[in-house]
Amino acid sequence: MIRAARAWAPANLALVKYWGKRDAALNLPATSSLSATLGLFGSEARIVPADTDVLDVQGDPGRALRVIEAARVLTGNRAPLDVVVRNTVPTAVGLASSASSMAALAMALSRALAFEDRPVQTARLARLGSGSAIRSLFGGFVEWDAGIAADGSDCRARTAFPATHLPLAIRVAVTAGGPKEVSSGEAMERCRGTSPSYEGFVRDNPAVLEAARSALADRDIARLGGIAEAQSLQLHEILREASPPIDLLRPASRDVLGVVSRLRERGVPCFFTIDAGPSVAVFVEPRHADAVGSALAAIPGVVQVLEDAVGAAGARFLEEVE
Ligand code: PMV
Repeated sequence: MIRAARAWAPANLALVKYWGKRDAALNLPATSSLSATLGLFGSEARIVPADTDVLDVQGDPGRALRVIEAARVLTGNRAPLDVVVRNTVPTAVGLASSASSMAALAMALSRALAFEDRPVQTARLARLGSGSAIRSLFGGFVEWDAGIAADGSDCRARTAFPATHLPLAIRVAVTAGGPKEVSSGEAMERCRGTSPSYEGFVRDNPAVLEAARSALADRDIARLGGIAEAQSLQLHEILREASPPIDLLRPASRDVLGVVSRLRERGVPCFFTIDAGPSVAVFVEPRHADAVGSALAAIPGVVQVLEDAVGAAGARFLEEVE
């Protein structure tokens, strides 16, 4: 028996980065991370019973198959499913559409296959689809502990601070469309195996996380921003150092970094973060969001500026199923 189910999950942006796996089969991260959940952009998953499996997933259907198979192993229920997943965030521009889509899918599966009373399993499934998806289950500022247990039982995420703790608007400078050339999983493995500074990145992670947590606790945008920017630059340095190198930034991405630093010099409390793609997200005090948006839109090579904010809520069920 399959129940019809619909779920929504927001995307998230990492301030302290997850990069590399301590266990590839279980998709356990080598580093703990801290992210901000978005308020508007995300994904919706819808599941209804079917005669044969129908999978219509925007993004990477392989990830969705992995999550669906894990749900079937968990419940023993192999009844056919009609699954649709749609993103409201542009796919593959480094805006974590895989995180929101896999979180939404895991939520919808938990209701369709009747394990919604087991949130730890929903979290495990989301993580199997995309590591960072586990963070999209929660709102506000979210910490995801890498854990050390071989079975991943201590690899958990939770809201560390609610969105109201430090209200921040987000403006995303989209600098290029089109699919990523290398999947994040493949890029992570390459960096782990070949980038000289990857080891230091992992070693420093607990101290970086602690510093970010303390900056957030103090509502100190300058300190938090310094950490997030350093993490982003380090991630892209590690990518460029890999063999063969991976350079995801475009000239316009670098121009955005210059504009952010000039805005800051003019007294606008803002900072950037970049995940595994060419788009750059800028966090800013809400009263300065319009100024940041206009400054980003004026940069040649910035094709679009998306408007969002740190959001209060993580993944949730949507009640009506058409
Ligand atoms: O969860 P994945 O496999 O899409 O990897 C996400 C990696 C980064 O976005 C670059 C960093 C992060 O912590 O989200």
